[in-house]
Amino acid sequence: MKGVVLAGGLGKRLEPLTRITNKHLLPVYDRPMIYYPLQTLVEAGISQILIVTGGANAGDFLRLLGNGEEFGLKHLDYTYQRGEGGIADALRLAEHFAAGEPIVVILGDNVVERSIRSYVQRFTAAGKGAKILLKEVDDPSRFGVAELRGDRIIGIEEKPRQPKSPYAVTGIYLYDAKVFDVIRTLTPSGRGELEITDVNNAYIARGEMTYDILDGWWTDAGLPETLYRAASLVRERALQQEGIGVSIREAVTNR
Ligand code: G1P
Repeated sequence: MKGVVLAGGLGKRLEPLTRITNKHLLPVYDRPMIYYPLQTLVEAGISQILIVTGGANAGDFLRLLGNGEEFGLKHLDYTYQRGEGGIADALRLAEHFAAGEPIVVILGDNVVERSIRSYVQRFTAAGKGAKILLKEVDDPSRFGVAELRGDRIIGIEEKPRQPKSPYAVTGIYLYDAKVFDVIRTLTPSGRGELEITDVNNAYIARGEMTYDILDGWWTDAGLPETLYRAASLVRERALQQEGIGVSIREAVTNR
């Protein structure tokens, strides 16, 4: 299983923060945004990782992350997305890297509280098809929204006015190697992009899509409001862990 972090795009919804740098390099509490999705993949046991970036600041990713030593990696791969072709267009660039292996894809602005290791393991055990991770949210209209029937997913609508469920499709996707054939069949959407939702609906139509409900909190960080929310959630988690650390240290010294 290989991993792909999608960190292209122009981050227009965060102007003027993104006028001179890439969205995924902006701070989320005490780390640049891209650290979080990268850490999520590494923690899930993925060691071969590709970063797809773009725009005027692509070189900064290399300067920031190098070969991934800080994450315990021996090597990182990078590739460059020209223009704003959408998430599926960015993923298309991972075909050479994937080289026939299944991949776990994470959007560079998605931050999760907990490990995704168990979902990766379940997908690996299934051996084929695709899996997405869903999360119940208060504002589903901002996302891709799943329509569920029993334990099956029967469709996804991208940013629907009237969502058919409260379950947002998070930016974590697991695919077998056929995903690149699926991308080749896509045509640009109304917003001129190759949509990841069209990829996922193609897997649903073939009966090859499963889902899990993501455990713990999840947020994107692509709007001023969600960038702020991501920072405060990460901060709370850091303080909790620090608190746990302090109480363990106290317990040890008081013994
Ligand atoms: C993208 C996807 C959407 C998904 C979201 C998760 O939306 O198109 O289906 O729910 O990421 O972060 P975008 O960030 O491009 O609006």
